Amino acid sequence: MALVNMRDMLEHAYRNRYAVGGFDLVGLDFLEAIIAAAERQRAPIILSLAESHFEYYDFELAMAATVAAARRSRVPVAIHLDHGASLESAVRGINLGCTGVMVDASTHPFEENIARTRAVVDMAHGCAVPVEGELGYVAGVEGEDAEKHPGEVIYTSPEEAAEYVARSGVDFLAVSIGTVHGRMAGEPRLDLERLAAINERLGIPLVIHGGTGLSDAQFRALIERGVTKINYYTALADAAAARMRANAGADPRAGYTGLMKGVRAAIADEVERCIELWGGAGRADAVLAEARPWHEVEHLIVYNLNEAGEARVADMMQEGRKVLSAIPGVRRVFTGDAVTAGAPYRHCWLVRFASEAVIPTYRDHPAHRAFADTLFRPVAGDRISIDYIAVEDPPAGA
Ligand code: 13P
Repeated sequence: MALVNMRDMLEHAYRNRYAVGGFDLVGLDFLEAIIAAAERQRAPIILSLAESHFEYYDFELAMAATVAAARRSRVPVAIHLDHGASLESAVRGINLGCTGVMVDASTHPFEENIARTRAVVDMAHGCAVPVEGELGYVAGVEGEDAEKHPGEVIYTSPEEAAEYVARSGVDFLAVSIGTVHGRMAGEPRLDLERLAAINERLGIPLVIHGGTGLSDAQFRALIERGVTKINYYTALADAAAARMRANAGADPRAGYTGLMKGVRAAIADEVERCIELWGGAGRADAVLAEARPWHEVEHLIVYNLNEAGEARVADMMQEGRKVLSAIPGVRRVFTGDAVTAGAPYRHCWLVRFASEAVIPTYRDHPAHRAFADTLFRPVAGDRISIDYIAVEDPPAGA
């Protein structure tokens, strides 16, 4: 299990002046390539899933694969929701397995950005999940030509950044200092003095969006001034597309697998180049030693029902699965009936939490209280429960 606390991971990078890549993935090829590159470089890595990409893949299915890949990896991994648009997006991301979330309310006025971000922070911190906020505006669209989306870049002001971080409670701040999302014509002009001033005032890990197209020297200058997470996508997508175009050129009759040959390697090469350039190579063991491992916790109740409860057990379980699984930090809800006749307990709940921090959050949540106090406890006086860290080894051969 190489999922680690993302806050600890980025604190390590911040203290040791290197940056971890937040690489957006849009499919299994990206996922496998990014993990393989990080393992070859022995580097910590952030697997990022951007809400703007959800039209290209099924987020729920992609998360299942991402969590599985992170668990069996041999380097420290965090799973991040990139550009989450709302509180609901953040809850969905955490409940599907994200261990960090970004709330992007940067297009809203200052006060509203703070209020929307604060709501996500309050929810996410109740699950021990750190939050990235954005102040200022980074224009452009990932994967496209930046000139096609010329939107006005709004630079982050150091004074406003200090107030924003204090009032919103974010753990990491995405800043706007001249980068844009997507493919750029020429090198962007970065306001490094502004970045240095923000870093001096805040002293927390800073994030750069729109990593594609920056020069080696620019990356180094960013990292020297507190940038600890670099979001990167377009260059990976372009490397994949170039390989597919070459495959199509070499064999115009190539089918899907023919077109995809070498795509993973092309993505992985670019990820490795970034990892080396950003200083993450060889850091995995130090991060694994320092960062808290990310453990899910399971809440198990075995119980017997009185006669009234037995009469409507199926409805009660169905209602519980629905309301409890919507609570922030609840990864899964299982219900069960004993299959052996003589079992001393006839029924069970198994509620999987994103982390240990969710135990009190869940206990005190109004939806849990309402369900437990009205539908469950009155009919289930005979019950025992346990909360435990769920330990699982990677599948044999992984
Ligand atoms: P690029 O696509 O420009 O690398 O930016 C990625 C990004 O910032 C994702 O949030």
